[in-house]
Amino acid sequence: MSAAGTGQAAATMQVPMLDLQAQYRPIRDAIVDVVTRVCDSQRFIMGPEVEGMERDMAAFLGVAHAVGVSSGTDALLLAMMALGIGPGDEVVTSTYSFFATAGSIARVGAKPVLVDIDPLTYNIDPAAAAAAITPRTRAIIPVHLYGQSADLDSLADAAGRAGVPIVEDAAQAIGATYKGRTVGGIGRAGCFSFFPSKNLGAFGDGGLVTTNDGALAAELRRMRVHGADRQYYHQVIGGNFRLDALQAAVLRVKLPYLPGWTEGRRRNAARYAELFAEYGLTGRVTLPTEVPGCYHIYNQYVVRLPNRDAVKAHLESRHVGCAIYYPVPFHEQACFAYLGHRPGEFPHAERAARETLALPVYGELTAEQQRYVVAVIAEALEQTV
Ligand SMILES: Cc1ncc(COP(=O)(O)O)c(C=O)c1O
Repeated sequence: MSAAGTGQAAATMQVPMLDLQAQYRPIRDAIVDVVTRVCDSQRFIMGPEVEGMERDMAAFLGVAHAVGVSSGTDALLLAMMALGIGPGDEVVTSTYSFFATAGSIARVGAKPVLVDIDPLTYNIDPAAAAAAITPRTRAIIPVHLYGQSADLDSLADAAGRAGVPIVEDAAQAIGATYKGRTVGGIGRAGCFSFFPSKNLGAFGDGGLVTTNDGALAAELRRMRVHGADRQYYHQVIGGNFRLDALQAAVLRVKLPYLPGWTEGRRRNAARYAELFAEYGLTGRVTLPTEVPGCYHIYNQYVVRLPNRDAVKAHLESRHVGCAIYYPVPFHEQACFAYLGHRPGEFPHAERAARETLALPVYGELTAEQQRYVVAVIAEALEQTV
């Protein structure tokens, strides 16, 4: 069936990439109440709201320590700093992620050692990560890309042999599990983002570092406030990685809804699978794979398509939001030219950058909207063969 076959819907349907209004409407009163509470308190930075959020998050994620910070980027940067990673050190990570993953390594003066991805999951290839370890390696940062855990057991073997920690970039994966354990609490540290488009989004920037290591937690807390154990007495040089009370209060309201929102995304992922099959597209569109033992939270629902750019343009012309995560792997970024990589060096990441497209998957998406998305893709593929 073509999009035109969906009748009047084709003329009027709009499917945004994300609809935060739909998520906000049912919880608006509760949010307004806590925002009022923070305004009335006139305590805006850290304080009881942040402490409460940290307790709630630690319980939700099953970790001993949760440290609220200013963004997911700062979570990664702070984790690198608190682990003492710096010039002369190497950190192994995937070449295919949001910029902050490699950017945070470079910002502490260390060398990002980039490796290719597993083409099925888009996560770091554990064998390539193991092969990239040298005597200078100080950490491995797997990214749980799109909301599905990386192959942590294989990475833990490699990290264990080298005696280096795993720092999980769980920015896209809050609530995802790996063999029954919640990601972010499996490595030495876990880094989360509360950017509004994440499954748990704040009303601005925010992030979290988790750990089960008490000494590391203390260092994270100290470095979050310019390295001071008590105000104006600085033992080490940290930064301003503090979280706003307003963000913490909003996150505390939203957290209990997260499992339900995630289930909505998973239902929609399953429905896409049915619809792509119904439209006879499964041979031409590669759908996401949920690895056994990995509970995928579908922060992004990413398909692989031939002539991806033409399909994207067609979707947009039919008012369907979609996005490319990510068009340029790290080793092809101008700022990382100094690493000396060549095009073709990481073929799976390069191919993913050319072929992948994220489709709307938020929980409030309707079955009718999803049918329309798939119908428009069918139409695009008919036109572009
Ligand atoms: C994989 C990954 N790492 C790190 C970040 C950085 O998070 P933030 O945008 O909160 O700084 C993001 C957010 O987009 C991300 O997706």
